Amino acid sequence: MVDPRRWHLDPAVTFLNHGSFGARTRDLLARQRTWQDRIEQQPIEHLGRRVREYLAPSREAVASFLGADPSGLGFVTNATEGVNAALRSVAFRRGDRVVTTTHVYHAVRQTLRRLAVESGIEVVEVPVELPIADADSIVAAIAPWLVAPTRLLLIDHVTSPTAVRMPVERLVPIARRARIETLVDGAHAPGMIEVDLASLDADHYAANLHKWVGAPLGTAILWTHPRVRSRVHPNVTSHFYGEGFTTEFDWQGTRDVSGWIVAVDALKDLGRLGWDQVRAHNHALATWAHAMLVERWGSTPMTPLDGSLLGSIASIELPSAVARRFERVDQLQASLLAEHGIEIPCIEWGGRRFVRISAMVYNRPAQYEKLASAIESMAG
Ligand SMILES: Cc1ncc(COP(=O)(O)O)c(C=O)c1O
Repeated sequence: MVDPRRWHLDPAVTFLNHGSFGARTRDLLARQRTWQDRIEQQPIEHLGRRVREYLAPSREAVASFLGADPSGLGFVTNATEGVNAALRSVAFRRGDRVVTTTHVYHAVRQTLRRLAVESGIEVVEVPVELPIADADSIVAAIAPWLVAPTRLLLIDHVTSPTAVRMPVERLVPIARRARIETLVDGAHAPGMIEVDLASLDADHYAANLHKWVGAPLGTAILWTHPRVRSRVHPNVTSHFYGEGFTTEFDWQGTRDVSGWIVAVDALKDLGRLGWDQVRAHNHALATWAHAMLVERWGSTPMTPLDGSLLGSIASIELPSAVARRFERVDQLQASLLAEHGIEIPCIEWGGRRFVRISAMVYNRPAQYEKLASAIESMAG
């Protein structure tokens, strides 16, 4: 769809892992460097006096992109940081329960583990078994847990190891009716699927812009609903504690804010292609590649082949001959890169081994066919 040379990626690598850290266009990186140079010329003026003025256009643009009210949107460095800040805002009592799923991102699982130790809460990872037939089965697995003493539902919008698009728009209202606080981990969502925070009505939404929006590394947001906003603060307490949500988030100590400043440019950059078109293209490519790989490898699809539970990533179970050849999945990942020049995450989850493909506008169908052949050649 788009010339891959617009991105700063190494053309020698077949890059099928946009999902982990995103990738940036050369234009955007140049724009960020211009801002870094400007700030370095007069740090006091640009960082000290004008930082809030510089962040405002990005906040407005990102808020509008996510259907959110800008006064509840704070910049953070990554989704994990946003999740940590949201969790810290809840005055948990011993015996409170936090519900998530077995698909939760491991860094977030560790955050909950720490919270359990420090606050005496119970964390329940509801099993959502693979393969998943439809959204109804996900709701049916989680809904029974949305009762007392559950205090908070932490649900991924798109799961990391298994690449499942969770029906958050159905789960959040169930939790809300039961007076359970909701934290949606949208690490993958902005730019991958449509996000409308006003209609979602979650209490907290943490998300990365450095993945599918293509913003500079370290660019992410935490959005918080007005009903809980006054008790949410950045993880770093700084000068403006208690002076309002965006005032606090705009200054979290001295840091390089150039990525946050150019988030608006990242939105415009891919936005020139039309965000609906970008999302539709990537979803169609991921859905096609998922079905093609499942067929070539004779794998059981973990989600429906029509792509109804996918965004623009998909996890495909490896043929058992390949899955068994390596003691650990990182050895397979290293071998795919060293021997075939393919960068793709290899994942172990629930006793199964997967590759997780990403589909971005710079990817081509032939790259997934190359992956299919590479894995087939390893089976022999
Ligand atoms: C569901 C989920 N949550 C959180 C994260 C963490 O993102 P970050 O490392 O930017 O905090 C990821 C990253 O892939 C993710 O997939």
